[in-house]
Amino acid sequence: MVNTLLLETAMDLAALNAKFALPHNALTITTGNGGLPCVDVNTPAVSGRVYFQGAHVTAWKPKGTADVLWTSAKSNWEAGKPIRGGVPLCFPWFGPNAADATLPLHGFARLLPWELEATRAGDAGKVALVMVLRSSPATKTWWPHDFELRHRITFGDQLIMKLEVLNTGSAPFEIEEAQHTYFTIGDARQVQITGCEDVEYVDKVDNKKIKTQEGLVTFSGETDRVYTDARASNILIDPVLKRRITIQKTDSRSTVIWNPWINKSKAMPDFGDDEWTGMCCIETANVADAAVTVNPGQTHQMRTILSVDPTD
Ligand code: BG6
Repeated sequence: MVNTLLLETAMDLAALNAKFALPHNALTITTGNGGLPCVDVNTPAVSGRVYFQGAHVTAWKPKGTADVLWTSAKSNWEAGKPIRGGVPLCFPWFGPNAADATLPLHGFARLLPWELEATRAGDAGKVALVMVLRSSPATKTWWPHDFELRHRITFGDQLIMKLEVLNTGSAPFEIEEAQHTYFTIGDARQVQITGCEDVEYVDKVDNKKIKTQEGLVTFSGETDRVYTDARASNILIDPVLKRRITIQKTDSRSTVIWNPWINKSKAMPDFGDDEWTGMCCIETANVADAAVTVNPGQTHQMRTILSVDPTD
């Protein structure tokens, strides 16, 4: 059970603004869709939004660019239900839980309210913030371990997201994780993705067969692939929106690429039937064989850096 009461009572917006807001409305704490609390960033250089639920970035827009991230018009905006779009954080497992399929898909981090821990104005209109999720009786109903999970986010001409887990317990634990980024694209049938050439992947829409990527990734049907040992950056080339998005990452061995195409889109209640043409996911991850063991007192970090450039 998600503790929705926690979300409702923990959010005294005035007190949060008194402690964390930045001058010139560069960062304010407000309510967003469905009345869910969020942090809004707005400077001459960039605008963006992060929901407390899931430390979930839903918008990043360097000034002068169109939306980079995608969110569904059909998304739930309700405490305890995943937001469809932006950057859901999958933790401490990815997809269904291997031992118990009744546990939440992609873990619980995206379902719970996180705390705002710090905010900072940087140079050139940049804004940084840190959100934290600590183990609690609620998390222990799903996963027995003691941990602190931080999402360190910097909005600027780049979007830098660092997911950092600290083992605060006395025994090692193993985690899977993903920054499950949804991108706005002009037409899924026309984009190309570099960076996975010759990399092996698990094809989740073909009985989990192991295949090897030939050439650039393109979409011509439902696509759900976990590229294993995929450490390289990706470039999402979009000839319709005339831009390229570069996805750099560190300490991530898996890249997940997803487009639900026609039938799966229709089957998902929180996803518009035709929305598959305008989005795709390229996810910075450590999953399956790339799961990470974190020893007591140790931290593990995984980082995604996004940038966007116009093309002719
Ligand atoms: C992707 C998975 O990362 O997320 C897909 O590889 C899954 O299998 C997709 O369908 C969306 O997951 P969810 O739980 O947000 O609907």
